[in-house]
Amino acid sequence: MVRGGRPLRGTLRVPGDKSISHRALILAALAEGTSVVRGLSAGDDVARTRAAVRALGADVDGERITGGRNRLHEPADVVDVGNSGTSIRLLVGVCATVAGVTVLTGDGSIRRRPMDRVAGPLRDMGAHLDGREGGRLPPLVVRGAALKGIDYRLPVPSAQVKAAVLLAGLAAEGETVVREGVRTRAHTEEMLAQAGADVTVADGGLTTRVRPSTLRPFELDVPGDPSQAAFWLVGAAVVPGSDVTVEHVYLGPARAAFVDVLARMGADVQRDGGATGAVRVRHTGPLTATEIGGGEIPGLIDEVPILAVAAACAEGTTVIRDAAELRVKESDRIAAVAAQLGRLGAHVESRPDGLVITGPARLTGAAVDSGGDHRMAMALAIAGLAARTGDTEIGGWGAVATSYPRFADDLEALTCG
Ligand code: S3P
Repeated sequence: MVRGGRPLRGTLRVPGDKSISHRALILAALAEGTSVVRGLSAGDDVARTRAAVRALGADVDGERITGGRNRLHEPADVVDVGNSGTSIRLLVGVCATVAGVTVLTGDGSIRRRPMDRVAGPLRDMGAHLDGREGGRLPPLVVRGAALKGIDYRLPVPSAQVKAAVLLAGLAAEGETVVREGVRTRAHTEEMLAQAGADVTVADGGLTTRVRPSTLRPFELDVPGDPSQAAFWLVGAAVVPGSDVTVEHVYLGPARAAFVDVLARMGADVQRDGGATGAVRVRHTGPLTATEIGGGEIPGLIDEVPILAVAAACAEGTTVIRDAAELRVKESDRIAAVAAQLGRLGAHVESRPDGLVITGPARLTGAAVDSGGDHRMAMALAIAGLAARTGDTEIGGWGAVATSYPRFADDLEALTCG
């Protein structure tokens, strides 16, 4: 239950970045020796990847992960990724090169999410892969095979697909090239380079090439997750009296676009200049509406539900377009935002590829539901806080455990002053 109208005040760190955490575990499992990874995300999604790399033969002992190609083998049982799309899409790229059969499945949401986007290019590389509806839906069954490099242009901007192809490319014959029309998050290529892979990035980050590589172990301090910081920073921008600083946040390519959007909407934002740093937002007055679309979308795709809360509180009409990908996330986030923010009194219209939100709405606490989607649960909590009157009861609150198990504790700490 969230009581409206309480300002957010204080300085905090958010969980380790989820995208980096998944990749750290997977690359450490492939690296020849022991890697040390500190600050992994504590959420269930990353726990699933940890369990999966263990099942594949890596030794995971707290922060120490011992991997290597010769350790990896067919898992003894089905690998269950729970709610984690990043786990299944990245792991299928790895398992395509591991001898034996791996079966990957997940919860009801995962079993509705499209996997043809990874199955297609991996099959082009020679992968033996099947699944429900011809490989479109999990469970997926993949049998390790000798792969060949491909030159692949991503039809949908997706860092998960880029990662799956590049991970497969590490053990494929010849060069593997991934070409993007719009830049997506760069963690895979950044971390492959750190682990000593033969990887090059060109065309302003749009073309990534990898050749067969042996990875060396690495040490990593996982920075804070900007997608989790976004909840507090938007909260600070919309609840009068707020002043929040989130420290040690990853602010690298295609992850911090929401910070620019908040600044454009008139929020008082201060951020450090580097790839990791602090971001502070102070409430100074009402926000103004904006337009969000085109090449900006992949850099803030996970932040749309919380940016919709900012838009509901802003003066004017905010239009979010080119974001049809939201329909195939943990839930249909276009439908979910329209329905659930609507219950709190926001004026939201859904479009096939986005949302039209007219504010400022007089939000009032109400009963809402996360639909089992962690980002919806947290965005609705911030919307409940922005409501000047009433309490907000969020059904399906347990979904936050997917990425931010301590969210309610942090909310309490920031609102108690
Ligand atoms: C992620 C990529 C994005 C994002 C997801 C994490 C990643 O998905 O929505 O939360 O770690 O690569 P897509 O690749 O499907 O756009």
